[in-house]
Amino acid sequence: MKVLSVVGARPQFVKLAPVAAALATMSVEHVVVHTGQHYDQNMSQSFFDTLAIPDPDVNLEVGSASHAEQTGAMLAALGPVLEQHRPDWVLVYGDTNSTLAAAIAATKLHLPLAHLEAGLRSFNRRMPEEHNRVLTDHSADLCLAPTQVAVDHLRREGLADRTALVGDVMTDVLLRVAAAVREDPVDSPIPTGGPPFVLATIHRPDNTDDRERLAVIVDSLAGMDRAVYLAAHPRLVAYADRYNITLDSGSITTVPPLAYPRLVQALGHATHVVTDSGGLQKEAFLMGVPTTTVRPETEWVETLAGGWNVLTPDPTDIPSSVTRPRPTTKRDAPYGAGDAAVRAAQTLIDRRIA
Ligand code: UD1
Repeated sequence: MKVLSVVGARPQFVKLAPVAAALATMSVEHVVVHTGQHYDQNMSQSFFDTLAIPDPDVNLEVGSASHAEQTGAMLAALGPVLEQHRPDWVLVYGDTNSTLAAAIAATKLHLPLAHLEAGLRSFNRRMPEEHNRVLTDHSADLCLAPTQVAVDHLRREGLADRTALVGDVMTDVLLRVAAAVREDPVDSPIPTGGPPFVLATIHRPDNTDDRERLAVIVDSLAGMDRAVYLAAHPRLVAYADRYNITLDSGSITTVPPLAYPRLVQALGHATHVVTDSGGLQKEAFLMGVPTTTVRPETEWVETLAGGWNVLTPDPTDIPSSVTRPRPTTKRDAPYGAGDAAVRAAQTLIDRRIA
């Protein structure tokens, strides 16, 4: 059997790591195509290096552009690659423009399409990710869902027959890397063993692209009563520059986007996380770090149970959310036991379309 994975953005490299390992142990031929959506060393190659992911077989080097141009360029470039390999499954991950482009390319060529991390919904149609995931789920022949909530969304949309619950592959990686960095700490710009600190990331257009809103977010973090390490995505840096907002102010120290083991190590020592990332909300929940999510909604609703994650759409509420008492409720394990990639790979084998 031959699987062709299409990835392009940072969180997809994390998801690819355990899937590539699982497919390898099952002797499945695996072709990896990188669209080039993310291309900086610390947004792309560092993930391949630190998570021991095989280098991509093809890099389309599409780079940054408007949503339409970027998605269209990927779609055009993917056609010949998919035709050349004609895999048994085109496997797409998550909800980025790379996901949608590959979903359309596979559908147009009548190639079986599987969507990993299917069924997540924010129900916020302003988010590009929401369009990407809805369109991809409805094009897919197989929806590999991370949670029961995701399965329920897919069932309500009439996709139950194509759905399989496999668990969350990011949990597989997190558990493995957390154990590894505990055993063997990595060098990092974020010191461990010092005073308590908050780990922050902000990169969503709704937070970065509006001058007023970005200024309030930065002010709230700068005024915190403890150190804040802000791992700065290029989009955040670009908009802060454009609006003359100084990120390194007050309590904030910026650091470049973190390689995955550095991120997990920082999480292991942080007292709180402030973020608008989907993945980081979930990683913090799994590591038992209380989180403030600077968004009106979340796809990972399980993290809200017991107050571990609190939605804080108004950024002036960030300081009070960060200083709230640490939750005492026991956390469930809604994201699986760390075997989601193996289950996903087995499902691809079992549901292969002849
Ligand atoms: C993308 C995904 C988002 C995901 C995020 C993870 C879409 C629509 N969004 O958002 O779901 O959470 O990745 O990081 O696919 N840039 C660089 N170097 C890079 C990559 C980007 O400088 O290696 C800059 C460019 O100015 C670019 C901007 O960041 O225009 C945004 O990059 P883009 O890939 O369009 O979206 P993200 O905001 O990263």
